[in-house]
Order: sequence, then C-alpha cells, then structure tokens
Amino acid sequence: MTTKPLASTNIVWHHATVTRVRRETQNGHRGAIIWFTGLSGAGKSTLAHAVEETLHQGGCRTFVLDGDNVRHGLCSDLAFSAKDRQENIRRIGEAAKLFMEAGIIVLTAFISPYQADRERVRAMVRKGDFLEIYCDTSIEVCESRDTKGLYKKARAGQIAEFTGISSPYEAPPTPELTVNTGAAKLPACVQQVIDEMMRRDIVNSSGFALVPNVPNCNFKG
Ligand code: ADX
Repeated sequence: MTTKPLASTNIVWHHATVTRVRRETQNGHRGAIIWFTGLSGAGKSTLAHAVEETLHQGGCRTFVLDGDNVRHGLCSDLAFSAKDRQENIRRIGEAAKLFMEAGIIVLTAFISPYQADRERVRAMVRKGDFLEIYCDTSIEVCESRDTKGLYKKARAGQIAEFTGISSPYEAPPTPELTVNTGAAKLPACVQQVIDEMMRRDIVNSSGFALVPNVPNCNFKG
C-alpha cells in the first residue's frame, strides 16, 4: 500500500522466484516486524537488541533498525517536525518490510510518536506480520534516566519539538504487547516479547525457554 500516487510511471513489478515462504522455510521461522514504540529513554533500543541477542543465539535471522542510527544515514535529511517524523516512519516501514520479505525478523526501535504513522506501517503488511510493542515508561522515569542528556537540554529550551516535552507522544491504544520498561528488569521484558512471538507462531518454542546471556539489569534507556 502506498499513501501517495507513484511519482514514477512505466514501472512493472518483478516477482522473485526465491519467495518469502521459501526463505522462511530455510530459516525455520517467519519473517516479521517487531515494532517497539515509546518515549526517548524508554528502553526501546536496549530491549530490541536484547531480544535480538536471544533470537540470534536461538538460530534466527534478525536485524535491528534503530532511531539514532537510521537518522545517520537513510533518514539523515529529516528532523523532528510532525511531517519529518511521518516520513521517517514511512521509510523505516518500507525498509522493515523489505527485511521481512527477506525472511528476517526485523526489530525497530523508533519513538514513532504518532498513532497514524504506526497504523500506516501496520497497513503496509499482512495481518500478523506487525507486532506493536509499547515500551511503557513514564516521562518522569525517562527524564530521570536521561542517558543522552537530551531531556535536560530540551527543558533548557535548547532542543525544539522534543517528544514528551514540546512535542506529543500518542501511546498505542491496542498494542500487541505492553512491556513495563519503566520498572521491570530487562530479562523479564525480553521473555515477554519472546513469549508473544511464540504465541503468534513467529518462532517456535524450541531454544527459547530461557533468556540466555541477557544481563539482569534495569533499563538505562
Ligand atoms: S521519531 O519520532 O521520528 O520516531 P526517532 O526514533 O527516529 O524519532 O529518533 C529519536 C531519537 O533522536 C531520540 O532517542 C533522541 O536520541 C534523538 N532526538 C533528537 N532530537 C529529538 C527530538 N526533538 N525529539 C525526540 N528525539 C530526539
């Protein structure tokens, strides 16, 4: 699904012979988009990477798309207005879809503050391919962590349109999963995500009974 008419004309879709299903069969798990959303400092990246670590050790093919990293490259021309965030999420959605078509479990860690932007990504893929995971950490906790020092700068008026302070965050009303990244420990949150993925048959239960090698720490953001 596209939101705008195509700018290019005379383009014809070419179908691959190595299909998503063939790739998934080879991998032994489904491709999927695991979409983490929450405030800056909520623990999205920490959780996405810890889930990836667990899946990787279990033999899954995975990749993490992370807000700060993607903004160094693919989205380096975008800032933080509502319009730029919308375009940011659209591009990430398209990139994540490509990874998923390649049979990979792609984990995305973007604030993605607008419900409509997240819903557009959901609508780009088949039902069951997009798992929205709300990293539920209050602004107070995120601000007390302030690992990057950005809340302090935002409060001092040095960063415009900062999410939670001078720009909105719309919590998802019906995410597939909410994790208490404000208070729970990391391994418990990882286990919750893996359990949800097993419940939805993205991965099967072998090899994921325990969360291996994830430090038993609190979130730092
Ligand atoms: S999103 O809103 O478009 O989804 P994204 O996840 O890509 O945001 O980037 C968020 C990261 O950019 C934050 O974790 C923070 O490190 C940094 N950042 C810089 N300026 C802002 C801002 N105005 N609002 C939120 N995050 C910002």
